[in-house]
Formats: sequence, structure tokens, C-alpha cells
Amino acid sequence: MTAWTHKDLVALDALSAGEITLLLDTAKAFKGVGQRTLKKVPALRGKTLVNFFVEPSTRTRTSFELAAMRLSADVVNIAATASSLQKGETLKDTARNLEALLADIIVLRHSSAGAAQFLAERLQASVINAGDGSHEHPTQGLLDVFTMRERFGRIEGLKVAIVGDILFSRVARSNVHALVTLGAEVTLVGPTTLVPHTLESLGARVTHRIDDVLETTDVINLLRIQHERQRKEYFPSLGEYTALFGLTKARAARLQPGCLIMHPGPINRGVEIDSDMADGPHSVILEQVTNGLAVRMAVLYLCAGGAGAAL
Ligand code: CP
Repeated sequence: MTAWTHKDLVALDALSAGEITLLLDTAKAFKGVGQRTLKKVPALRGKTLVNFFVEPSTRTRTSFELAAMRLSADVVNIAATASSLQKGETLKDTARNLEALLADIIVLRHSSAGAAQFLAERLQASVINAGDGSHEHPTQGLLDVFTMRERFGRIEGLKVAIVGDILFSRVARSNVHALVTLGAEVTLVGPTTLVPHTLESLGARVTHRIDDVLETTDVINLLRIQHERQRKEYFPSLGEYTALFGLTKARAARLQPGCLIMHPGPINRGVEIDSDMADGPHSVILEQVTNGLAVRMAVLYLCAGGAGAAL
């Protein structure tokens, strides 16, 4: 059986199939813990986790906090606007000061790609990447794959379409790395400006026509347009984007009956996905959020030195 040997989780691109499977199996065990009357385990008792979010977040920040609490860790939340980053302190100095306060685990969300790796190389504390610029969002990738595996019982051979702003999406990158490593067939769909053929180097197929995937895909994962990362206009208008790539009722009617509709959130209703589809019977969007808790418990547990899936 694969052993976990990493202090940090910065990206999924460096993980083996065995390591990803170990994370998913450990998350499955923690999901079971969440269904007990007493949802807390003492695995991280005495450890301190600092949630350091330099960009906004609802799902990731809250579920890391809840995950740490369920593992009996002490948790401190820091927002960039209330930290000394505002006074010109560097990220490294802020993090080293947090470590001097005996933080064992730092969960970092940052607008710069590479920020988590930068800290992981300089701190003894575990560093967990909660999203760094357009690079990776490894726990989102894991919770998406966990949700697919739970529903289908496998990842190998699954057809997964990821639709939207792939160029700026850390979620897409983490999903592609995990899915390709575990043997899924991934197709990236979107405008030529946001889904260039160079992305085929990740091991995925690229198409600019959503019609190419609708009738055959097992999973359709819709992504938000990342306006905050785009420095120019990549398509003429949101209306035109929806007309060409949005999951409308008419398009959803062409999906296979068992096709899962996924979205990492936050949703822009009526842009990348019609409201009825986001809330409909094929949507597992809120299930993804629930699974995020178990996945983040697994990541914290393993990076803090836990032994693996058999809890
Ligand atoms: N999916 C995701 O990362 O959501 P938040 O930005 O709310 O954390």
C-alpha cells in the first residue's frame, strides 16, 4: 500500500495514482466519521492550524476550519485585509511569524501562482494550497474526483468534460492532473481564447464545440469565468458566452440520463449554467461541498503525519 510522505499539499501534478487514491480512501473513512453522532476525532489534538486567505472564499475557508475542528485542532483565521500584509509585510515574514507562534499547519489562498510552494520550501509547518492564482486548487480537484468516484465507483475510463475558462482555472488544472493520473478521459471545452490547444499537453482533449461532448460525457463540470484574473476581454459578451457554452435546458436535455452536473462554485447563474440545471436532479454541486469537508480532513490528517485510510 502507498504511504504518504509529504509535509505539504501544494499541487496534484506531482502525486502518483497511489497517493491520490490514498487521499480519496482516507477521505472516504472521514466521511464515515461525519455520519456518526459524535463527529469529532482526536487525530490533530494539540495541533494549531492557521487559515490564511489573501483572496475571498466561502466554501474552502469554511470547510478547512470545520475539518480542523472535527480533527480536534485549534484554528485561527486570518484575512488579508485584517493582517499586516496591508502595512507592507511580506508573505514570507507573515508566515514565519505565524510559525513563530507555533502554527503546525498553514492553509494558504493567494492570488499569485507559486505562493504556496514558496512557503512550503521555507517553513517547517505544513503548507496546504487552498488555491494559488491560476495554478492549482488541489483540494477542489480531490473533492471533485471523490464525488465522481463515489457516484460511479471508479475513475478509470470515465468521460469528463470541463467547460469554460480553463486558461485561468486552478480548479481545471487540479482536476485534469488527478483525472488523467487515475485514467479518466478528459475533454476541455470553451472559446479558443480560453481553451488553447496548448492545454493538450496536460493529457486532455480540447474542443471549442460543446456539442462534441454533450451526448457522450459521464460528467460535465462547468467553470466560472474568472474575470478577476483576466486582463483583457476573451469573448465578446457574457450573452454570447452563454449562447455558445452555457448549460441551458436545451443542452442539458441532450446529456446521458446518468450524467453528473458539477460546478466548483461560486456559480454565476444564467451564465455558465441555467438555474434549473444547477438545482436539478443531475446536479451534485452541494454534494461536492459536503465531500470537501471529508477531503480536507484527509489532507490535514495525512500532512500532519497520520498513517492513512484505516482510521
Ligand atoms: N470552489 C471554491 O474554491 O470556492 P470558494 O472560493 O468559496 O472557496
